[in-house]
Amino acid sequence: MAQLWGGRFTKETDKQVYDFNASISFDKRLYRQDIAGSKAHVTMLAAAGILTEEEAEKIRTGLDGILKDVENGSLVITDKYEDIHSFVEANLIDRIGDTGKKLHTGRSRNDQVALDMKLYVRDEIEQIDECVYELLRVIHHIMEDNIHTYMPGFTHMQKAQPVTLAHHMGAYFEMFRRDRGRLADIKARMNTCPLGSCALAGTTYPLDRNLTASLLGFDGPTFNSMDSVSDRDYLIELLSALSTVMMHLSRISEEVIIWNSDEYRFIELDDAYSTGSSIMPQKKNPDIAELVRGKTGRVYGALISMLTLMKGIPLAYNKDMQEDKEMTFDAIDTVKNCLTLFAGMLATAKFNDKKMEQSAKNGFTNATDLADYLVAKGVPFRDAHGISGRLVLYCIDKGCALDDLSIEEFKKFSDVIEDDIFEAIAMTTCVEKRNTIGAPGPDVMKQVIKANKDYLEI
Ligand code: ARG
Repeated sequence: MAQLWGGRFTKETDKQVYDFNASISFDKRLYRQDIAGSKAHVTMLAAAGILTEEEAEKIRTGLDGILKDVENGSLVITDKYEDIHSFVEANLIDRIGDTGKKLHTGRSRNDQVALDMKLYVRDEIEQIDECVYELLRVIHHIMEDNIHTYMPGFTHMQKAQPVTLAHHMGAYFEMFRRDRGRLADIKARMNTCPLGSCALAGTTYPLDRNLTASLLGFDGPTFNSMDSVSDRDYLIELLSALSTVMMHLSRISEEVIIWNSDEYRFIELDDAYSTGSSIMPQKKNPDIAELVRGKTGRVYGALISMLTLMKGIPLAYNKDMQEDKEMTFDAIDTVKNCLTLFAGMLATAKFNDKKMEQSAKNGFTNATDLADYLVAKGVPFRDAHGISGRLVLYCIDKGCALDDLSIEEFKKFSDVIEDDIFEAIAMTTCVEKRNTIGAPGPDVMKQVIKANKDYLEI
């Protein structure tokens, strides 16, 4: 047991209490941030005349040595220490002696851990953003290749109107683009430095908080030391943004699972991204999509846990807050993994354009266009709707598509129908006439794809 306190205690900590209290098993992943924060802190202490330049240099060198040895594996972070802060400080003292004992001047673990988590989250936001960006590139390529790939668009899971695969995928492009926006907002809002808040009430040392903030790439110091050590809003915001990412991933996973089913066969997943059954030899399962859909619950769980964790905490730091880490780490790991795997699965999937087009044709997705055709011939829309509906019923009985009817059959329902009906309700016409921005028509789709390309800077 190696802890930073003990002076006012006359007994050893009970072993179970020690283990229950310790956070090293999970906060060890903050070693880089902890060391970077400590280096900035001593640089500031020297600039403020609280340490000498020689002392600061000695401490920085010691900290660099610890970092190097942890990274090359020669120094292992073990459970012997209570937390990552104790590990770094104890190792520093081992290496450089008494000067190491000056590191914690004008600092508390409360502002230290607040800093470490902010630094960690700031880095991770960048990495998550990169993963979302890569997925957007995959979606963009599918869009570029499928401006003329017709498929049914659904409402209520019923075939509704024809769209294209580019258009369908474009909806997800919008979702994931918004996710990136949310991540950027969080990063901008959280970028203030808590270091120097100390335990809760600042310190009597003449710290230069602006200097530490700028050394660590923050926009400036936080303005209230009690809030600084107990603010976890940015974690709640992050988990909310990550929950939204997962919700989007889960929706598109659901599409993939449906499209991959025998009944649809819109998509063929690559063997490398599918799994088999131990008993049924014919199976090729979309396990990645199912797991992504399933893991969404973990990330939602983290958000709800974090909100619940914070709701009863009076100012300022309370130990409950140590619980913020495992769930945040798990959510971040989960989201990065899911984004990467999903992007790989989508990039290697093959779309069955014939099946998709056939499905759109069989689903009377041109029934609205038939009604619009009648309107153009002078029939009021409500009547046109009725005629088109009766024609659909006729086709259902006959087991055919609207396009398969003869002109004589059409005329039995309305004598304004002429030979131009076939072109008017053809799949190509139905899609190509929808040319207002945001619709699936190829001209506007090309404009959107160009705008997306500019956004991606490719
Ligand atoms: N392990 C603690 C946490 O994660 C670090 C801060 C401890 N501060 C304290 N006063 N016990 O929150």
